[in-house]
Order: sequence, then C-alpha cells, then structure tokens
Amino acid sequence: MPSVVDPNRVIVFDTTLRDGEQAPGFSMSAEAKVEMAKGLRDLGVDVIEAGFAAASPGDAEAVRRVAGEVEGPIFCSLSRANEDDIRTAYGALQSTPKRRIHIFLSTSPIHRAAKLNMSADEVLNAAVRAVSFARTLFDDIEFSAEDAIRTEHAFLGDVMEAVADAGAGTLNIPDTVGYSTPVEIASIFAEIKARVATRHPEAILSAHCHNDLGMAVANTLAAVANGARQVEVAVNGIGERAGNCALEEVVMALRTRADLYGVHTGVDTTQLLGVSRLLSNLTHSPVVRNKAIVGINAFAHEAGIHQHGMIADARTYEIMRPEDVGFSGTRLVLGKHSGRHAIAQRAEALGYRLSGNELGHVFVSFKRRADEIGEIDDNELLAIINTVTTDGGPRVLAS
Ligand code: KIV
Ligand code: ZN
Repeated sequence: MPSVVDPNRVIVFDTTLRDGEQAPGFSMSAEAKVEMAKGLRDLGVDVIEAGFAAASPGDAEAVRRVAGEVEGPIFCSLSRANEDDIRTAYGALQSTPKRRIHIFLSTSPIHRAAKLNMSADEVLNAAVRAVSFARTLFDDIEFSAEDAIRTEHAFLGDVMEAVADAGAGTLNIPDTVGYSTPVEIASIFAEIKARVATRHPEAILSAHCHNDLGMAVANTLAAVANGARQVEVAVNGIGERAGNCALEEVVMALRTRADLYGVHTGVDTTQLLGVSRLLSNLTHSPVVRNKAIVGINAFAHEAGIHQHGMIADARTYEIMRPEDVGFSGTRLVLGKHSGRHAIAQRAEALGYRLSGNELGHVFVSFKRRADEIGEIDDNELLAIINTVTTDGGPRVLAS
C-alpha cells in the first residue's frame, strides 16, 4: 500500500475480478481468477477486489483462493451493508493480513425508493451500523454510496462524513450508471472533499466510473484532478453494461499527462499489454483492434503520410512509446495507403536497397497487389521485389 503521506500517489484499485467478472461474458473460474490476480500483482496494482464473497459459495471460494495463493496487494471483497455479508467477507479473506472490506449501500432517491424502500435517515443509519460492525473485524474499510452521482449532494456529504466517523478510511463515490460528465463530477468531488476533509483530512476519496456514455476514463481523470486519490478500474474496461474505467487508459493518461495531473501510480506500465492479453485469453474475449493503449492498432501506421512522419521522428504520430506499455515497437503496416518511404525502408530491412527507378517499379506492383489482398507482409514484398527483378526490370541491389 502506498504511503498516505504522498499526496500525489494515486491508489489503483482493480475490480476486474468483481465488477468486471460480473458482466455477461466475462465470468471466470477460481483457477482463472488466481491466474489473473498474479498478473495484476505483477502489474503493481495496490488493491485487488477478488469478488463478492456473499454472492455465492463459488464467489466466496474464489476470494479465498485468490487471497490465499497470491501475495502482495491488498485483497478485498465486496459486501452489502449487513452483518452476514460482512462476516462472509471476513471468512473469505481470513488468510491474508492485507484485507479490506468494501461495503456498499445505495444513497440516491431513485434507489432509496425503488430498490431499498428506505428513507434517507434509514440509509444513513444502516451505513453507519454496517461500518461500525465491520470495524470489529477489519482495519481497512471502504464505503461506497451506490449511485452517488444521482444523490443529493448535501445528503451524500452527510453519509460520507458519518461513515468516515464510524471508521471507513476510503470513501468511494461511484457513478454507478455512467451518467456523469467531467465538469459535473469535478464539482462533486471538490464539494465532498471540502466537506469531509474538515474532520477527516486523511480519508481517501475514490472514483468508480461506469462507461454508459463513454466517459468513464474522462470522469475518473476529472475526479483525480479534484482530489480523488483512488481509482477503481478494470483491465480492458470490462464491467457492468458498457464497463468500468479502463485500467490501462487511466494509468497511461495520468503518466502521459503528468504535466497536467501531477500524480503517479505504482503500475509497471510495461506489463499492461500482457495483462490485457491474459484477460482476453481467460475470458475468450478479443480486444478490439483500435482499443486505446492495448489494441493492435494502437501503435500501427499504414497511411503513407503518417509512415513518412514516423520514419522521420516517432513523436510526429505517437504520444507514448510502444515499449512503455509492452509492445515490442511501432508497426508500420504496408498496405494500399502506404507510401514510397515505408516501402523503401522495409525493403532495406529485408536486405534490398532500392534505387529511385527500382523503387518506382516495385511501388507500382506493390499498389496493385495491395489492392488485391490488403496488407503486404514481408513475404509478399520479397515476392514483388523478386518479380520485378526476374521480369528484367531494374536490378535490385542486395546490400
Ligand atoms: O457501480 C457501482 O456502484 C458499484 C459499487 C458496488 C461500488 O460497483
Ligand atoms: Zn460498478
């Protein structure tokens, strides 16, 4: 766990194995969760939410196995705000001294009326009761006000202050339904931080954003800019409905734009691609090719103008180094959009230095073939170079 005295350290709370896993198509066996947890440990996340122990005996077993077989991060179980759930979470996490309970209770008017049938006072009292009971078993308690974003701000402040008084050290403000915007969430975090900091300056505010409007990462960043020091994230952005804030995106945004945010995480970013692929394999869910940070197009270029720029200086079209997220390098894809510079460079890498005239002939054949088959790999390019030579065209000089 990072030192709480470093005000610029952002805690990475990974919920791939809980919020991610509970979404359709992403369920994992206990075995798979253990494998994924090892990848997350190597990645350097601070907290792993391994599941929701009271949800099913299988979930409790998975939390028990992950916490028992993997060492390093803090392990956490989700829990409703009742004694039975809290005891079940404790049982599942008993084998690790680094344990956290994550208690949640809805606070918004729509959830209070339609889901809980409770008044605001009853919700506040139930939250405090649950945290006070949890305090008898856990030192590390996180409280989430489910649907916080649609909760009256004054009431949300009351709840957060009251659960902090009762012993919750991490106060999570989830955008449960992915409804917020960066401007709105910024002001909510600023307001709650100001409210809670008076009595609990050490409390950690946490952001947990869903992606229903495609703003989970942007909202999480806005929360960080306004005092959040924990981000709840999932690898590849998996999670309920449109998913959670993508771990790899928020971590790389904070790193790449450290000039704006001035904070850091403990994540070893060179592991991001590997962990993304691990999850994809374990859940049989391919990553879309244009996915930020870890899609196969994230550091690939086909257009001639872009390839020309990349050959001159990679900073023309890349804001991160591919090696920093785990790729072996930039991929200049040869296809119908490619230009002479990229073809000449690839030919040279394959052992052929083409003169201007030779390159002109290869270029014509290349474009014709690319129109037919799309991507031109090394074998295709060699075949084109050889055909041009054999047909009595310009000589290709072996370097
Ligand atoms: O989205 C949400 O509100 C949650 C809570 C349980 C934190 O996942
Ligand atoms: Zn969630």
